[in-house]
Amino acid sequence: MTPITPTRLVTHAYDTGGARAIQDELFALYAEIYADQLSDPFYSVERFADRFVGHSGRSGFLLVTGRIDDELIGYAYGGPLGAATQWWNGLREEVPPDVVAEDGSRTFALNEIMVKEGWRRRGIARSLHDTLLADRPERRATLLVDPANTAAKAAYLSWGWQLLGHLQPFSDAPIYDALVVDLPLSHRAAG
Ligand SMILES: CC(C)(COP(=O)(O)OP(=O)(O)OC[C@H]1O[C@@H](n2cnc3c(N)ncnc32)[C@H](O)[C@@H]1OP(=O)(O)O)[C@@H](O)C(=O)NCCC(=O)NCCS
Repeated sequence: MTPITPTRLVTHAYDTGGARAIQDELFALYAEIYADQLSDPFYSVERFADRFVGHSGRSGFLLVTGRIDDELIGYAYGGPLGAATQWWNGLREEVPPDVVAEDGSRTFALNEIMVKEGWRRRGIARSLHDTLLADRPERRATLLVDPANTAAKAAYLSWGWQLLGHLQPFSDAPIYDALVVDLPLSHRAAG
């Protein structure tokens, strides 16, 4: 596939208020991308919207959208884990306490990243990912990926993320791979 040139992919960053102002557009793209899984309650648009409300309400929340010719074709968002976060509660392995110790500024959680099907394998997710994480003050980032999601997992591993353990955040959620990467990133998206 031909990489999208930066002049065609227009990225834009939004804080909480900005993201919530375009949330219907975000939910519509989610519904399109996850169309095959929407009948599973965990993946329903309603549950996604609930999670979005929680994630976007965090101080330090950041959304990066990608548009081509004004059409939303992907986005990524996340925010810092609070000092009292429950993020690591579902971790299934025993790890030294300092591995999962949070102070409110240590770890940025990447909650969502998605790219519309017809635009994949052109480096767009990488561009969104790198833009989202480029200027973060946190010292590391974390995310959860379903190990069955081979495309996403391959992407993260190729971008330098590493497996920390396995984690089930809710009882009806999959058992995810919990990945981490040090910030700042040691690579940046190719121009
Ligand atoms: C995962 C996703 C965001 C990747 O988006 P993308 O724009 O295609 O990603 P990129 O073009 O930046 O790909 C980066 C790398 O990921 C890997 N990758 C992406 N899709 C892949 C696939 N289908 N099979 C194997 N590797 C894949 C490759 O290493 C790729 O680099 P390469 O094209 O140079 O080989 C996209 O497939 C998607 O939106 N999936 C549905 C939503 C989702 O699962 N989100 C992640 C939730 S954890």
